[in-house]
Amino acid sequence: MTGNAVLGKRLSEALGIEAPIVQSGMAGVAVPGLVAAVSNAGGLGVMAALGAKPDALRESIRQIRQATDKPFGVNIWLHSDVRTSPDPAAISDDVVRGSQAVLNHFRPRFDLPVTFERPAPARDLVNDALTVMIEERVPVFSAGLGIPEADLVERFHRAGTKVLSMVATLSDGVSAVANGVDAIAAQGTESGGHRSYGTKPDRQGATGSSCLVLVPAMVDAVGREVPVLASGGVVDGRGLAAMFALGADGALMGTRFVATKESGAAEVWKQRITSGDRSTTLTDGFTGQWARVLNSEFTDHWAESRAEALPGLLQAAAGRDLFGAARASDDDQLQPLYAGAAVAQLSDIPSAAEVIQTLTADASRILNR
Ligand SMILES: Cc1cc2nc3c(=O)[nH]c(=O)nc-3n(C[C@H](O)[C@H](O)[C@H](O)COP(=O)(O)O)c2cc1C
Repeated sequence: MTGNAVLGKRLSEALGIEAPIVQSGMAGVAVPGLVAAVSNAGGLGVMAALGAKPDALRESIRQIRQATDKPFGVNIWLHSDVRTSPDPAAISDDVVRGSQAVLNHFRPRFDLPVTFERPAPARDLVNDALTVMIEERVPVFSAGLGIPEADLVERFHRAGTKVLSMVATLSDGVSAVANGVDAIAAQGTESGGHRSYGTKPDRQGATGSSCLVLVPAMVDAVGREVPVLASGGVVDGRGLAAMFALGADGALMGTRFVATKESGAAEVWKQRITSGDRSTTLTDGFTGQWARVLNSEFTDHWAESRAEALPGLLQAAAGRDLFGAARASDDDQLQPLYAGAAVAQLSDIPSAAEVIQTLTADASRILNR
């Protein structure tokens, strides 16, 4: 019996996939080549639509369709401050100055001028992206940072699209299922990337629960109605088997797929998550929302400064020059290198298909011992 045959039957039925693994949407990382490779290997590849203009999103969806005839997903955030960006003019001078002071500390490193300017208002692209997904009848809509409301779920269902909702709390999971979603991903605090809240909690609230706590609770609360994926800390077959033991139907994984051959992550990022010191921290200093990243000079300085992040994603807009310059020069200290707490277990850069085959075979072996 193959791993795929043993594992994830309910998930297969709900999302039309063969392996119990969903690769998370990750801007710049989950490029069409990675999405198609995951789907072709039997998992669910998901591309991230956040920030993509409608034509670019449509083009990426078409590229994926050219590369696979298997189901795939498109992800976007439904966070209230991302759907409608806060007005920069409404932010207090102190908050702007405090945030810019931290950015100014590092700007001279790239010969960037210091500034205490407010960022320009952000464009609202979320509703446009949702419309493109519905028009394109994508197989799966994957929602992060905020739960889809019932009428949005209904619009997707009318287009023949399944809806997967990632949540970090039990109450959000219950609400999402009441709104009609087809599957839930329970996101534990181990997760790399942004914490999946629809409004920003304070630092303590953002810590959340580990998968060990959240997954069985979610399974008990909604598992009879929809399949539950575990999201956070799964990078190998042991982790996948552990999530099955907790009652999950599969895993939604990000960090492991950053370090794959098909991933669009920069080489410096792949290298940093497969070797050396890989302690991680939760910070809101890169985008304005809480995210788990590799520790760096920036995250240390941001935490020490006690600066308040600009709301929505305006923090990312304020730091675009600095983080962009860091990216352009492969600086690993001044750009967000998103990574989950299990990152230290990674040491190789396999293909996406190898990840899916190895994890399902190893998990199957462990569970059948
Ligand atoms: C590089 C990176 C980017 C991510 N981007 C997104 C995203 O755009 N949308 C989303 O819903 N989740 C995103 N996530 C979070 C994942 O959905 C997921 O919760 C997380 O990766 C699971 O933990 P793991 O990284 O330990 O596998 C991202 C994660 C990483 C590592």
